[in-house]
Amino acid sequence: MRIAPMAPRLHLFVCANRRTDSSLGGGCAEAGDAVYDALKEDVATRARLADIWITKTHCLGLCPPRGSTVASYPLGRVFTEVHATEAASLLARELDGVERREKKA
Ligand code: FES
Repeated sequence: MRIAPMAPRLHLFVCANRRTDSSLGGGCAEAGDAVYDALKEDVATRARLADIWITKTHCLGLCPPRGSTVASYPLGRVFTEVHATEAASLLARELDGVERREKKA
C-alpha cells in the first residue's frame, strides 16, 4: 500500500443506491442519479475536474424518503434529502468551507 500522489480538494459521494422489495424503500436511486449528474455538470462548468471529485455510491446509511444522501470530504458532513436543484448550492457551500479551512491552516 502507498499514499496516492494526488487527492481531491473536495470529494462528494452521492448515493444512487437502488433497492427492490425492501422495507427501507427504493433507495436514493433516480434522485441520486439526478444529483450526481447536476454536480458533475457544475464541476465541469467550473473547470474543476482535477480537484473536485464527484463519486456515485451505494447506500450511505440514511435512506431518505425523498432526494439523495451526499457525504462531503474533507469536511466530513453528510446531507440528506438533497435534490438536483440544490446541487450547485451544496457544491458552492462545501467548496467555500474547504477554502475557509485551508486559510486557517
Ligand atoms: S439508499 Fe441512499 S442513503 Fe441509503
